Amino acid sequence: MSNLVEIRDVQFAYNDRPILSGLSMEFPRGKVVAVMGGSGSGKTTVLRLIGGQIRPQQGSVKVNGNEIPSLALRELYQMRRKMGMLFQHGALFTDLSVFDNVAFPLREHTQLPESMIRDLVLLKLHAVGLSNAAHLKPAEVSGGMARRVALARAVALDPELIMYDEPFAGLDPISMGVTANLIRKLNDALGSTSILVSHDVRESFLIADSVYFLSQGRIVAHGTPEEMMASDDPYVKQFVHADPDGPVPFHYPGSSLAEQLGLSERA
Ligand SMILES: Nc1ncnc2c1ncn2[C@@H]1O[C@H](COP(=O)(O)OP(=O)(O)O)[C@@H](O)[C@H]1O
Ligand SMILES: [Mg+2]
Repeated sequence: MSNLVEIRDVQFAYNDRPILSGLSMEFPRGKVVAVMGGSGSGKTTVLRLIGGQIRPQQGSVKVNGNEIPSLALRELYQMRRKMGMLFQHGALFTDLSVFDNVAFPLREHTQLPESMIRDLVLLKLHAVGLSNAAHLKPAEVSGGMARRVALARAVALDPELIMYDEPFAGLDPISMGVTANLIRKLNDALGSTSILVSHDVRESFLIADSVYFLSQGRIVAHGTPEEMMASDDPYVKQFVHADPDGPVPFHYPGSSLAEQLGLSERA
């Protein structure tokens, strides 16, 4: 199996509101794949399907050959141990030190002795350049450093799949670059597969092997960053060049203002 994650023909709706339709995606082993799109396009929903937090109404979501929606809870928990997740707005535990934040998943999910946990935590913190900040509280480090601690925590259990939800949000440009490089480095050092959800074109294109563009719950483009840069697709062009005008509507879909004001002529 060359793909660690495979999504086939997925339909997903919250209540009666369709969110994803006819969705098929592939995440090859060892690769960093970016999932991009405007806010509300369904990016986080894709990650929640893969993590088994939600189930599709139709279609298949496979991780390492396991059909996630049909797993029993105990099997799902086992699968999740192999998935690292950096949540959107993923905050650190403010009362815990940097060290204890990274140690948290190890203490939660393993029976390892404290001496071994210490070595593992220091290795992860070293990988993100923060082994000397282990004793600090999250409030005592910068925003960029806090994000690196969250990265170290996401990879604490050496996951085979790492999912990042908007890892660049709220960072200054330098910290964004540092974070992007770390995502690539951690993926390659751990031999994992990474899914990078982001709307940041520059940083994502820098490190991704391939890119999916989502719009309103559908894939509108897929290819390498180079192919996307050269794409003639109007949506991709609008997104890559951050144009205010293009196929992405400014208005939330629904009736027109004239209709809302009762001014429209109905035939
Ligand atoms: N728990 C929920 N209940 C109902 N609708 C939701 C829920 N979570 C997200 N949505 C809706 O699903 C759509 C896709 O959301 P999401 O996947 O979070 O988008 P993105 O991550 O691309 O910004 C949005 O329109 C959002 O309002
Ligand atoms: Mg989101």
